Amino acid sequence: NDIEAIKKATEGNPNVVAVFFETIQGEGGVNPMRIDYLQQLRKLCDERDWLMMIDEVQCGMGRTGKWFAHQWAGILPDVMPLAKGLGSGVPIGAVVAGPKAAHIFAPGNHGTTFGGNPLAMRAGVETIRIMEEEGLLQNAADVGAHLKAALERELGSLPGVKEIRGQGLMLGIELTKPCGALVGQAAEAGLLLSVTADTVIRMVPSLTLTKAEADEIVALLTPLVKALLAE
Ligand SMILES: Cc1ncc(COP(=O)(O)O)c(C=O)c1O
Repeated sequence: NDIEAIKKATEGNPNVVAVFFETIQGEGGVNPMRIDYLQQLRKLCDERDWLMMIDEVQCGMGRTGKWFAHQWAGILPDVMPLAKGLGSGVPIGAVVAGPKAAHIFAPGNHGTTFGGNPLAMRAGVETIRIMEEEGLLQNAADVGAHLKAALERELGSLPGVKEIRGQGLMLGIELTKPCGALVGQAAEAGLLLSVTADTVIRMVPSLTLTKAEADEIVALLTPLVKALLAE
């Protein structure tokens, strides 16, 4: 989130041809890029003729309430990998490219055994159709805001909670201590979550989540976090 740092790190280096990043880092600990930083970075990429490559594998496909998380900044990437939610569980990956990069791969350049197979392609098409029909982007935005507000209310003021961040249904709760133990405890209570970057509880629930289910998540998670912080 520091445009001066990237300028300094790349100044006078002719070998830099692209930047590659996630709009919201997933494994890195649910770290969002600021909107103004994304806009500044787009401008820098244009000035320096760098490709802007945005990995939306985890934060894309509706998770934040827009199709792609970078759309909140009103920018367009030149290259964008997608996967995960694109196939609703059927293995699929895709790379989307705009005019600056689309010519680089020609048919036949990139072969894989299962690339473009009809089952996975159909799963992708149907996923997009169902997401549109069922208004799942709006649901992710609405239920995500509800969940975040409830987490803020229940956990936000605890001294061991550093920050609750993220957007839509991609949320992270950063604690002041490692919280890997919560994964097993939550699973026993009937709640699947993951911990990234050692101290961040990551929540990336289904985009069909309801507000009542979000409340249930908070009710299950709150006592576990309080108990962990009290240890
Ligand atoms: C942001 C991000 N990019 C890429 C990948 C890799 O995607 P795949 O497992 O489909 O190769 C992952 C996780 O698996 C991810 O979280």
